[in-house]
Amino acid sequence: MIFTVEVDVSDVMQENAYFYVDDETRCGFLIDPGAQASELLKTIARENFTIEKILLTHGHYDHIGAVNEIQRALNIPVCMGKGGKFYATDTFNNGSKFFGQGIILDDVTILDGAEIVSSANPAFKLEVIFAPGHTLDGTIYYSAKDSVAFVGDTIFFGGHGRTDLAGGSERDLMDTIRNKVFSLPDETRLLCGHGASTTVAVEKVRPWYRQMSASTSLSSKIAKISLSLVLAGL
Ligand SMILES: [Fe+2]
Repeated sequence: MIFTVEVDVSDVMQENAYFYVDDETRCGFLIDPGAQASELLKTIARENFTIEKILLTHGHYDHIGAVNEIQRALNIPVCMGKGGKFYATDTFNNGSKFFGQGIILDDVTILDGAEIVSSANPAFKLEVIFAPGHTLDGTIYYSAKDSVAFVGDTIFFGGHGRTDLAGGSERDLMDTIRNKVFSLPDETRLLCGHGASTTVAVEKVRPWYRQMSASTSLSSKIAKISLSLVLAGL
């Protein structure tokens, strides 16, 4: 079961928090609780969910704003991808400093396995895909069984995430989109950190992807030419 809750972050933007919960056991995971902790806790109680872990697609403030309160209430692990501490421990890097929030996550688990498995039902699981670019710690959670991927801000309906914030890299994002997102089956539903969902098939043929491919391959050629000039002593 995928249960989407839209939350308002600092009254300035919308963000999607997702519950990914096993239909049989009602146990599962909460992905990117960005704000409105009390609303999310009410949903958990109302739906009779048992949330085993909080999973973060990345450490930006608009995806982590409700983490501390929910972690305190449920006493569960908070999982982030490689590089997550860069955001968890620094209000500049996670952006909360600019919105007067000062969010620090001091009890996070950095993922090193390839899967997140429900302790209530080992068949209910998510594959962990390292997906840098929008941030250093970008992580996609994918279920082949349900044909769904929680992609955070890597890719959106009709576009891709920005790369100009701390730890962002346009080249890494292009690699992630080309080699990780677009290598998933075409019918995979992409559940984004903001806005509507989309699919691999739809985004693969959009103009933004052609433009991004062209611009990153041009900058890579320029980088190679510059390196050749340096090597030639020019
Ligand atoms: Fe973000």
